[in-house]
Amino acid sequence: MKILVTGGAGYIGSHTCVELLNAGHQVVVIDNLYNSKEEALRRVQEIAGVTGSLHDPDSKLVFYQVDLLDRPALEAVFAAHNGSARAPIQAVIHFAALKAVGESVSKPLEYYHNNITGTIILCQVMAQNGVKDLVFSSSATVYGEDNQPPLVETMPTSATNPYGWSKVMMEQVFRDVCTADPAWNVILLRYFNPVGAHVSGRIGEDPKGVPQNLLPFVTQVAVGLRSQLHVFGNDYPTSDGTCLRDYIHVVDLALGHLKAIERLAARPGVTAYNLGSGVPHSVLEVIAAFERAAGVKIPYQIVARRPGDLPTSYADPSKANRELNWKVQKTLDDICVDAWRWQSQNPKGYVVLWSTNREGGE
Ligand code: UD1
Repeated sequence: MKILVTGGAGYIGSHTCVELLNAGHQVVVIDNLYNSKEEALRRVQEIAGVTGSLHDPDSKLVFYQVDLLDRPALEAVFAAHNGSARAPIQAVIHFAALKAVGESVSKPLEYYHNNITGTIILCQVMAQNGVKDLVFSSSATVYGEDNQPPLVETMPTSATNPYGWSKVMMEQVFRDVCTADPAWNVILLRYFNPVGAHVSGRIGEDPKGVPQNLLPFVTQVAVGLRSQLHVFGNDYPTSDGTCLRDYIHVVDLALGHLKAIERLAARPGVTAYNLGSGVPHSVLEVIAAFERAAGVKIPYQIVARRPGDLPTSYADPSKANRELNWKVQKTLDDICVDAWRWQSQNPKGYVVLWSTNREGGE
């Protein structure tokens, strides 16, 4: 099948492209490279063993640097595949979005415009081309702060910041689109805490600026880019006082998207699935697991709670286990080993070094 992946050069997107290619799909990526690098896609080609130019529409993996807000550019991508002799795009996996919680509080209009308007333009252009199957990158953040874990898909949704609200609102957009036109099928995948990296060490998370999330911060401390980790609070009502989260290996998450694409064939209408392990781990457990995996000590200091953090969040993944025939295969130890391999082999992320014999060089 030919699948359009928005945000395909990003962290979860690039891992998903690998699994789609491994399963024999053709992949068309659009990405504005705001928070990602084209180099990630070259490495996806390398891991999946596909050749051809990233800019040749007939390649197994083709890339267009397009922003979803640029409707004519998006229409041109569809025209190159769906109004032509080429195989048409049949389904879309939609990752492209802004995702920094703190930044969303200071720039709400930017977040709503980018995430929601971008999604609406995508749906309109898909509909113009008769493409009505989509897998959406949602988040456990849509469970808000009032539900008690384990979190189940039937619980009411809400949010505590504009990023979270943009996910709640995009879910609602898809529900309404599916109600208005039953030809649409949308699978909402609610991710818990995506971490880790591909086992090859060639692709992984490359955060812009100071990492806001736990694992990227830990790996940057381990590699010497930062001096110590701040642990946000140890007075929560949990086993060791630090917050509990459901960490999921990014390759398990990517495989969940493959299962969701297969599930679209059953024409499910709109439906949500939790992608998580169902097993919570504390911040101190993550640090200990990482120290074991990497053989490196992580200096840390307990500091005040971070506003907005919930004590405990973990999935009930039984619906995805049952209906998608999907469950996590990797452990916290696998996560730490793979995250460390990526960070230690790419201490500065996707930095492309100049070749020493380049022409015109100094
Ligand atoms: C965060 C977002 C969530 C988003 C998700 C994306 C917040 C409040 N939530 O989830 O909306 O969907 O990222 O992956 O930002 N921690 C530290 N020190 C650090 C960083 C984190 O102690 O430097 C702790 C946090 O307090 C938390 C745990 O580590 O207990 C996990 O934090 P993080 O990786 O940021 O994920 P979430 O907060 O669960």
